[in-house]
Amino acid sequence: MTIAPVQSSPSLGSSGWTDARLILALEEVVEKELNRHLAIAKEWMPHEYVPWGQGRDFDGVLGGEAWSLGQSQVTPLGRVSLVVNLLTEDNLPSYHHEIATMFGREGAWGTWVHRWTAEEGRHGIAIRDYLLATRAVDPVELERARMSHMSEGFESDNAHSMLHSVAYVAFQELATRISHRNTGKYAGDPLADQLLAKIANDENLHMVFYRNLLKAAMEIAPDEAMRAIADVVTDFRMPGHGIPGFERAAAQIAIGGVYNLRIHHDDVLQPVLRHLRVMETTGLSAEGLLAQDRLGAFLDGLDAQATKFEERQAALLARREARRNAG
Ligand SMILES: [Fe+2]
Ligand SMILES: [Fe+2]
Repeated sequence: MTIAPVQSSPSLGSSGWTDARLILALEEVVEKELNRHLAIAKEWMPHEYVPWGQGRDFDGVLGGEAWSLGQSQVTPLGRVSLVVNLLTEDNLPSYHHEIATMFGREGAWGTWVHRWTAEEGRHGIAIRDYLLATRAVDPVELERARMSHMSEGFESDNAHSMLHSVAYVAFQELATRISHRNTGKYAGDPLADQLLAKIANDENLHMVFYRNLLKAAMEIAPDEAMRAIADVVTDFRMPGHGIPGFERAAAQIAIGGVYNLRIHHDDVLQPVLRHLRVMETTGLSAEGLLAQDRLGAFLDGLDAQATKFEERQAALLARREARRNAG
């Protein structure tokens, strides 16, 4: 969903921190966090979560049964949300390109980049296998959407500085976790819920990695980190914003309670900001203080917007309920 329009962000401050120096300074932290991640991440098998017994040939080359809407028990909200989540995962080559270019492919940074990519790779595989085996979505529409979405590629709003990239992924991994988790909750199939909970667990570990990295960056370059956090939070867009029909899907996902402004504010932004004590950080320069104030003002505004959204959502759901009772 689009939280705010994209604005261009000015370059980092004048304290001498370049991306190259920050990458070098954070190498030790990356190594420590990578080792912590490898020690706690448990191997899991995507194929075990897919009900292959429900699968059968499709029409076309194999002359099987054509897809139709009634073949799956997945809810309309679950379908929309599963497709957005899958297409978002599908753009992994673009995300890999971005972080490999930004963080490099050497040393601990490179090991993390490749390991993260391998873990993300199984999310798209597992969700697609589930959708096709259970016939939850039109496979032709899905393939066309994938082609269209991936052909556009993904260009990050935050590729201009490594601190912006790190701040973005710290929030984005948590947003993805919540989005998978809530999709499972509303999908109408316990097997979808089980698979998405497993994927959400991976996203949580990714969030912890980036959040801890951001914490270390706040210690060595507090003003630059504050500026990056303020820029990212005030311009945040989900990585799937380029998906065909995204706005319409995002509206359904928001009303259905999978992901909306209230969730974004309460369950994504605030937990990370609180954990990093961003609003309590002291000892900032004038530039850092300005960024902190800008962030605080934005969060207040977002909270108010989220409350307005909830009122609209409640009214809409009440109208739907009344219509259902009348019909
Ligand atoms: Fe993922
Ligand atoms: Fe992730």
